[in-house]
Amino acid sequence: MNFDKKIDRKGTDSIKHNNLKERFFSEDIIPMWVADMDFKSCKNIINALRDRVDEGIFGYVYNDKSIFDAIYKWQEKRYGWKIKKGSIFLANGVVSSISFIINAFTKEKDEIIIQTPVYHPFSKVIKESGRKVSVNSLKLVNSQYEIDFKDLKKRAKNAKIMILCNPHNPTGRVFSKDELKKIADICIENDLLLISDEIHSDFVYEGHKHIPIASLSKQISKRTITLNAASKSFNIAGLMTSYVICENKKLEAVYKAYIKKFEICDNNIFGTVALKSAYESCDKWFDEVVAYLQDNRDFAYEYIKNHIPLLDVIKPEATYLLWIDFRKLGLDAVKLEKFLVKKAKLGLNNGIIFGKEGKGFARMNFGTQRDVLKEALENLKEAVNSFIVK
Ligand SMILES: Cc1ncc(COP(=O)(O)O)c(C=O)c1O
Repeated sequence: MNFDKKIDRKGTDSIKHNNLKERFFSEDIIPMWVADMDFKSCKNIINALRDRVDEGIFGYVYNDKSIFDAIYKWQEKRYGWKIKKGSIFLANGVVSSISFIINAFTKEKDEIIIQTPVYHPFSKVIKESGRKVSVNSLKLVNSQYEIDFKDLKKRAKNAKIMILCNPHNPTGRVFSKDELKKIADICIENDLLLISDEIHSDFVYEGHKHIPIASLSKQISKRTITLNAASKSFNIAGLMTSYVICENKKLEAVYKAYIKKFEICDNNIFGTVALKSAYESCDKWFDEVVAYLQDNRDFAYEYIKNHIPLLDVIKPEATYLLWIDFRKLGLDAVKLEKFLVKKAKLGLNNGIIFGKEGKGFARMNFGTQRDVLKEALENLKEAVNSFIVK
């Protein structure tokens, strides 16, 4: 697969490219925000979808067990996690599942812990559901994020749910076994339900290892609902298909009783074809894309370190998201956004959306061709290096 080949995504209904005027008030930018990649998906997935298209009938779906077998095998092969049979079910998006779980298991004003700066829909769905966000801020120590366990322990006493994002978006942290064990112990001691969003688990770079927290012990598995998808990994997010892993039948029953009310059809005919094909036949494509992304990460990290001394940058251990620290420029969130769009000609995610700890930061999606990344970094260098710090 030639990941260097530029692909014009304009006019393809891509959210990243289509609504730049509304989103950034400019079309003259390189869009590097929402988390999908600018690469074509694996050929085997495309062919499987094409075969389904050729059948020409797109009626309601009933998946046989082969799709679940594909998920069991992927999780075991990649992470050594032997999931109990009958513990996986399909869902639309990960975020809608988080919202359902919150509503199914808590009542208004209950507290839910998140670790900010973090993927912004977490706080949104908590607030929209009338629940309270309990913020366990991550601590930035020597250009890497750490968990404040003392604070987490305190918050756990009053909370009902913790949402773990591992690997963590936007900081790129892959939590270690030791950290995960501590989180698990806190959840067990305080009778918390743990939602583990592991959607970025496949993009882990050399020197790091993804450990599904529910695989640590029966005790933590019993109180964990893990959410995952092939959507990020194989660039099929628009097919809105994910899956839920829950090894506790009681929790599963509560969740299913809640979603039954909405009569949601969670099997998308193309989403399930793509998911099965991805996990069954796209290992090689996937390993190649991760290698390419790791080189992109190293390239971007070194470039900023060597050429843009006013910026700091967090080296992600996973994900194709780069968390860049612009605080030395002394700009507030609105001015930073303007600076990025007008001066650097870049469409990034403003750090403030991930929580107050993200003030002065921005997130750059490097899931793109090396040349595009290079151009973006050159833009950034010129803009920042000509910036006069007041
Ligand atoms: C941590 C995390 N969870 C969930 C999602 C979105 O998942 P879905 O599109 O399945 O709702 C994203 C997308 O960027 C994400 O970064």
